Amino acid sequence: MAGARLKCIHPDCSLEYSVDSVAFRCEKGHPTDVIYDRAPSTGLKETFYARQNHRGNIFNVSGVWRFRDLFNFCQVDTEDIDACAIRFVSLDGSEGRQTGPYHMKQASEFAGMDEGCMWLQTEGYNPSGSFKDNGMATAVTHARMVGAKRIVCASTGNTSASAGMFAANEGMDCDVYIPAGQIAPGKLSQAYQFGAQIVEVDGNFDDALSQSLHDAQTGGGYTVNSVNPFRIEGQKTIPYRALEYLEWEAPDWIVYPGGALGNTSSCGKALMELYEWGWIKKVPRIAVINAEGASTLSDMYNGRYGAPLRWNGGRVDTGIIDEYYGRDGRPATGATAIQIGRPANILKGLRALDFTGGVVATVSDAEMLDAMSVVGLNGFDCEMASGAALAGIRKLVRDGTIMRDDRVVGILTGRQKDPMLSVEYHNNPANRFAHPPKNRGKG
Ligand code: F0G
Repeated sequence: MAGARLKCIHPDCSLEYSVDSVAFRCEKGHPTDVIYDRAPSTGLKETFYARQNHRGNIFNVSGVWRFRDLFNFCQVDTEDIDACAIRFVSLDGSEGRQTGPYHMKQASEFAGMDEGCMWLQTEGYNPSGSFKDNGMATAVTHARMVGAKRIVCASTGNTSASAGMFAANEGMDCDVYIPAGQIAPGKLSQAYQFGAQIVEVDGNFDDALSQSLHDAQTGGGYTVNSVNPFRIEGQKTIPYRALEYLEWEAPDWIVYPGGALGNTSSCGKALMELYEWGWIKKVPRIAVINAEGASTLSDMYNGRYGAPLRWNGGRVDTGIIDEYYGRDGRPATGATAIQIGRPANILKGLRALDFTGGVVATVSDAEMLDAMSVVGLNGFDCEMASGAALAGIRKLVRDGTIMRDDRVVGILTGRQKDPMLSVEYHNNPANRFAHPPKNRGKG
């Protein structure tokens, strides 16, 4: 059984901590990773396939825990179901269960891709309606491992829905800090319904996150935002499911909307590990798509105001970040899920871009809405922020970064939880995919 540790990601520091501590940052303030002593055998690919015939074992039904050997920080014998049941948090196996990659013909035409080359992975079909459930299952598992009674998060909506859902199922308390008046009604209602304590913050998501981190630290709460490295571990299953579906033949691109960069970080870590362990021969490039109105990563990575920000072997020029954060201006986009000005995982995000030869682009609100709507025409739904992945693929195909015959997986991160957005979109005939209502008068 492989051992696991927490290790600082800074090359000049590399401090280590026990896996049952909450050292999400080292004492110098750098982020930590969960690392494993031994490389898992590639023979596990067969085990993962075999587990798809779950035989009633809920950890095999789960699209997260089916891959448990690749993030075995609980250090249980993964074949011993009783040992798994004592440790793992799961909503009866529903996390990551119906979230595969699909060809969507109309979406693919919209993106300008050749037929059969693009897949969109429906992470919105998770039990709480977003990709967050992948990482929340593992984060709450760790919370239980360290004896936490109350989990805490800041959220633009989906994190709070996911945290509330698992907390309710585990009988834990859950505090969610939200930017007052700025989250989609469907997300807010989930948090209430799951019994979470809403804490409104006058400000934006970045303000809510600093407040929640402060309160968790001083008040003994356990943080489940993606600054928690155990969240990152569970989110690795998003690329695992895509890769397994593609028979471990890595695609050319994996495309995500970018907010706090938890997804970018976890995809990067998953790919670094799989490559090092000899599970994949080629590394897909990550493309991160920001909203034009919340473009921190794009601005800095693409050098909009000076030297481009890079990982630089782990010695990131944080002066560039401080200077950027000192500028005026707050993030503003209709895609509230990614209305984030200070991506908390920027360092791990840069590492992921560096390892994969990644790119960062921006798309407008109108482009996201069109992409969201064309996904709907394939019989799937997603929220506006998820539309960034498809709109981003389209943009990168148009500028020649992505080739039409590249193999591309775009991640649809969340399901529609702001239904009035679609109603408004379709009632405006000027919108590209609008299908306005007919009026038959009094009838
Ligand atoms: N897509 C959706 C639907 C999201 O809810 C989020 C983040 C993102 C993309 C961005 O992902 O942070 O990993 O880069 N939502 C967070 C929340 C911030 O609180 O629900 P990221």
